[in-house]
Amino acid sequence: MEKREQLYEGKAKKVFATDDPNLCIVSYKDDATAFNGLKKGTILGKGAINNRLTNHFMQQMEKAGIPTHFVEELSDRDTVVKRVTIVPLEVIIRNVAAGSFSKRYGVEEGTPLHEPSIEFSYKNDDLGDPLLAEGHIYAMALATREELKTITDYAFKVNELLKAELIADGVELIDFKLEFGKTPDGKIVLADEISPDTCRFWDAKTHEKLDKDRFRRDMGGVEDAYREMLHRILGE
Ligand code: TMP
Repeated sequence: MEKREQLYEGKAKKVFATDDPNLCIVSYKDDATAFNGLKKGTILGKGAINNRLTNHFMQQMEKAGIPTHFVEELSDRDTVVKRVTIVPLEVIIRNVAAGSFSKRYGVEEGTPLHEPSIEFSYKNDDLGDPLLAEGHIYAMALATREELKTITDYAFKVNELLKAELIADGVELIDFKLEFGKTPDGKIVLADEISPDTCRFWDAKTHEKLDKDRFRRDMGGVEDAYREMLHRILGE
């Protein structure tokens, strides 16, 4: 399978067409941004690590019955995925207060939540991905009730599966963001990535951050954190 024309370039990945109209190739970059692109940088080796970790997690999800866009890892940075229409929602699950939740509600970072929460943001860079009330999703026809039910069920199931796998490697899953796609026949599948760019991972004992917050907050040790996650999850 070979790359044809570039279809899209995002902040962390490029997407290419292939000879098969139902498949495309995602190519992971080392570029990193935060605060809706305001902060820019490079995290050396990040593209390859996020490719490996995402593909591993996607395959775990498939095994557990959650359909995903994953097809085949081509090389260290490139992966074949199903061509889908991305549902314009950022789906965020939280287990422990952190980030915008802590800021918005005044709950100290690291406070365990009484139960996992789900929230949706409108995937729209020009607007800075604003938080959505459920009714707004239907009002703007971003997803149907049935689609949102499927997305919600899948997202909570991903949380349980990921949490269980990570804790076995001494990593606590604080929160994460998922995106879903729709296949031409209308099926909802898990898409985008599951990586230290899109999740908060803390060492379960020391609470050391092993994710992109090290970049967002200028904490140093960014590359080491990504490498540590690759090592813990895949032993590489
Ligand atoms: P938040 O606390 O800043 O709302 O972030 C919640 C989770 O979503 C966190 O694991 C990081 C992830 N995230 C993204 O993947 N992309 C984004 O653009 C943002 C703001 C957060």
